[in-house]
Amino acid sequence: MQREKHVTLYKILNANWRDLNALHHLEQICFPKDGWPLLDLISVLTYPNIVRLKAVVEEKMVGFIAGDRRDEGYLGWIATIGVLPEYRRQGIATALIGECERRLNTAIIRLNVRRSNMEAISLYKQLGYVQISTWPGYYQDGEEALIFEKRNI
Ligand SMILES: CC(C)(COP(=O)(O)OP(=O)(O)OC[C@H]1O[C@@H](n2cnc3c(N)ncnc32)[C@H](O)[C@@H]1OP(=O)(O)O)[C@@H](O)C(=O)NCCC(=O)NCCS
Repeated sequence: MQREKHVTLYKILNANWRDLNALHHLEQICFPKDGWPLLDLISVLTYPNIVRLKAVVEEKMVGFIAGDRRDEGYLGWIATIGVLPEYRRQGIATALIGECERRLNTAIIRLNVRRSNMEAISLYKQLGYVQISTWPGYYQDGEEALIFEKRNI
């Protein structure tokens, strides 16, 4: 049986400090356990050299991704990605990651994810990321982080 996909029209745009309230709302919904403090949200929306993108549907932020370059531009790190529940399974995270990878333009991209986060792990595997290591006890509640990597070389 084929699953019908509902597809919403969205745009991928640069995010900036004006998106603070929308990002705060999205973070609280997407990351009930790991939401960033307000100061970190301000930083991610304002610090230089960060790729910060939002997915927008009719002026509303429905998804967000941020990534930065490390090791003199050799390594990119995706620090956060989230899509509001009612907009999931429509390819929005895939589009955000694709555009973030393109703009980071690094040989390697890495990210970390909770071991129990099967949705995100499926997404990363589908996009060609492979697990390279673990960080035991990384999250505040003691859960292990899995480190995934994608090589563009
Ligand atoms: C993980 C998350 C970003 C995925 O966003 P999304 O826009 O739904 O992802 P996409 O539509 O691009 O999904 C692409 C593929 O990923 C996999 N995938 C995504 N969600 C999945 C789910 N709930 N169950 C199984 N596979 C899933 C599927 O292979 C999917 O392709 P398909 O829909 O054709 O089967 C979203 O669920 C989310 O915001 N979760 C909460 C925040 C979070 O965990 N962020 C990651 C932190 S590391």
